Amino acid sequence: MALTNTNPTTTKAWKNLEAHFEQISQKHLKSLFDEDASRGQKFSIEWNDFLVDYSKNRITEETKSLLLELADEVQLKEAIDKYFSGDILNQTENRAVLHTALRANTNDEVFVDGENVVPEVNAVKQQIKQLSEAVISGTQKGYTGRAFTDIVNIGIGGSDLGPVMVTEALKFYGNHLKTHFVSNVDGDHVQEILKNLNPETTLFIIVSKSFTTQETLSNALTIKKWFLKQAGEGDVAKHFIAVSTNLEKIKEFGISNDNVFPMWDWVGGRFSLWSAVGLSIALSVGYDNFEKLLVGARKMDHHFREFAFDENIPVLLGLLTVWYNNFFKAETEAIIPYTQYLSRFSAYLQQGIMESNGKSVDRSGNRVEHETGTIIWGEPGTNSQHAFFQLIHQGTKLIPTDFIGYKESLYGDTDHHNKLMANYFAQTEALMNGKTREEVESELKSQGVSPEQISALAPFKVFEGNKPTNSILIKKLTPESLGSLIALYEHKIFVQGVVWNIFSYDQWGVELGKQLAKNILSDIENSEIGKHDSSTLKLLQFFKN
Ligand code: F6P
Repeated sequence: MALTNTNPTTTKAWKNLEAHFEQISQKHLKSLFDEDASRGQKFSIEWNDFLVDYSKNRITEETKSLLLELADEVQLKEAIDKYFSGDILNQTENRAVLHTALRANTNDEVFVDGENVVPEVNAVKQQIKQLSEAVISGTQKGYTGRAFTDIVNIGIGGSDLGPVMVTEALKFYGNHLKTHFVSNVDGDHVQEILKNLNPETTLFIIVSKSFTTQETLSNALTIKKWFLKQAGEGDVAKHFIAVSTNLEKIKEFGISNDNVFPMWDWVGGRFSLWSAVGLSIALSVGYDNFEKLLVGARKMDHHFREFAFDENIPVLLGLLTVWYNNFFKAETEAIIPYTQYLSRFSAYLQQGIMESNGKSVDRSGNRVEHETGTIIWGEPGTNSQHAFFQLIHQGTKLIPTDFIGYKESLYGDTDHHNKLMANYFAQTEALMNGKTREEVESELKSQGVSPEQISALAPFKVFEGNKPTNSILIKKLTPESLGSLIALYEHKIFVQGVVWNIFSYDQWGVELGKQLAKNILSDIENSEIGKHDSSTLKLLQFFKN
């Protein structure tokens, strides 16, 4: 069954939230903490290795109850059941949304069109296990009998960002294989990767759900040509693997059936790292770690499905986004991991969140009257503190920010880790409390600054504070905790889409640019330029001449 179709702005809870917003929007977080000594306790959740503290948000208990009422009115509980049961939630493509089936227990049952898909998922996992173990151990060799040293993932969007992010995040758990990623159709990207590779010892994985993506096919062809300069056609089978739903196109490309890892149309590209799309992950960290990643996601799936909404992490974090996006009119959200390993996390989530919820038409096909998808950005702390935090602290925009940190570092350097985490804690406190004019003045006075200078300088040194943050504090960055963290954000996306009454699992908005690029390519390659506006025409003429 499809999702219900409720305009959230017509619900009773929404109206109440509007009235409530008028009452509390000016309230300072500091005073909320002063009024209730147990606030930190009240608005936090301990779950497995996670502590999620959402107390530094501009909410009261009433805000939380109203947001939970909104969740009830849009039938979030029913929607979650449909999400896990294989209902056709991606209606515009007539598909189920079942990335959760990829991490189901081996004996679970998940039905698509009356067929239990878990056995197929298990079979592909076995394939991933076999290949990754054979390549890592060196028993599977290249065409000259040498063991593989390098892996190249050729893919873009969901066929790239997830594997890149996870292999970077789990680098500590990596083995001797070097993993590379070619995504951009920019030929310089592929050449930069190829220049240090030896075809005899490199395994290429072409990942494309559709196997029609221009970037991926162009890069794959360029790489195949490069490979054939040294090797023969018959050697391709030993070095090229494909992950796709499109078996026909794979065959056309010249990859034998034995080297195909299937995927399914009920897995969206941006949610596919748990499938054979994650082959490069299994190769770089070993199959057992890949399996642990899935276990972590499965645990978060269980949490999301079973926990009451008032202690359900993805539900609460999703509703908080709605609160800021639709009532405070905050347009962006920053995601700041305090670990260099998660340097690609916000780039990964940009696709996950913005491709899913960047929609302006509701589930009945009408233009929405409310704001939808938020703009996602971020970089690791502490680097980001020295780059854009100025704007979060003292700019005019409200930017709710997620701080992700770990109790333990991986190499165990306590000195560095304590400094890193001191910054993690200090930033959320500073963003919340700010610094008043009185505090600034007395600080300057104690430094011996003259009264004239104090009055000239003080306005610039005041911090308003009252900037909302979530602190996600996790015991340690492991494959399992990473799996849970990624799944948390996947489910948060779902919650937002349900509330906003949009379809989160299609991405028609990327098609127009692709179509136009095809036409313009023929303008570039042929002598005649077709009909364009005067700006595009001028640009094309300049490019061609
Ligand atoms: O253009 C967007 C998109 O369709 C993404 O949704 C997808 O992850 C990416 O392109 C790559 O698609 P494919 O895996 O089919 O090559």
